[in-house]
Amino acid sequence: MLSAEQIESYRRDGFLVIPDFASGDARGRLRERAVAIVDAWEPSEHRSVFTTNEHDRVSDGEFLASGSSIWCFFEEEAFGPDGELAQPKELSINKIGHAQHDLDDEFERFSYDPRLAEIAEDVGVVDARALQSMYIFKQPHIGGEVGCHQDATFLYTDPMSVTGFWFAIEDATLDNGCLWAAPGGHLGPLRQLFKRNESGEGTVVEPLDATPLPEPPPSGTDLVPLEVPAGTLVVLHGQLPHWSDVNRSAVSRHAYSLHCISGDTEYPDWNWLQRPADMPLRPLG
Ligand code: FE2
Repeated sequence: MLSAEQIESYRRDGFLVIPDFASGDARGRLRERAVAIVDAWEPSEHRSVFTTNEHDRVSDGEFLASGSSIWCFFEEEAFGPDGELAQPKELSINKIGHAQHDLDDEFERFSYDPRLAEIAEDVGVVDARALQSMYIFKQPHIGGEVGCHQDATFLYTDPMSVTGFWFAIEDATLDNGCLWAAPGGHLGPLRQLFKRNESGEGTVVEPLDATPLPEPPPSGTDLVPLEVPAGTLVVLHGQLPHWSDVNRSAVSRHAYSLHCISGDTEYPDWNWLQRPADMPLRPLG
């Protein structure tokens, strides 16, 4: 599927931009299904919020259970001072996660595309298994920042194998909070582990390496923006530092993200995302 040049560029940079991967039809169907899921969503009293910084995100039971379910997380800025939604529900959800690739037929069709299995193999993921999916809305005006991080912090295998497929469902621009990545940054160390604590009810962040992650702009210069048109696939190495800014523009920036790991590695039981025995991970493709 990938050319030798593309594989070389992925190995050098830690990411690869593949234009025109998802057709307008496929994007439209996924978007429509995501909107329908939110429409049918009845928020619980607790109202899980996805915080702007993944390190501080709410580690409540709903979040920890969402590895094997479909859950809607609110934008942190969705609520007014009175505690009520400040805009309609469909403009208040940060993302849907984290198992719709196995629980929803439309997401399943999109995710188990044989081309993704080929790409995973091309970039060195042996026996790739789909682990996590997120439909990210990056809502107009309130779409939250996602702090600079490495995905392997949150989805750890030994040896490291997590690889991200990030699909632009809509155009991603500097204005609406596109991805930024640090070329070559995947060759640096993994900085932190995000673990379930021993009781299994909360999470802790365990430092591994004190090397700082790249600073986002305007102070930092190591991250480059990945402005991409709708339909583009960005493949992300699990140790690549990446970041995305708030969306203060009037247009949303929908994206779908699917993470896979190698079936040939160990997946510790302290990872936040755990699946029940009757829901094993399935091979891509
Ligand atoms: Fe990420």
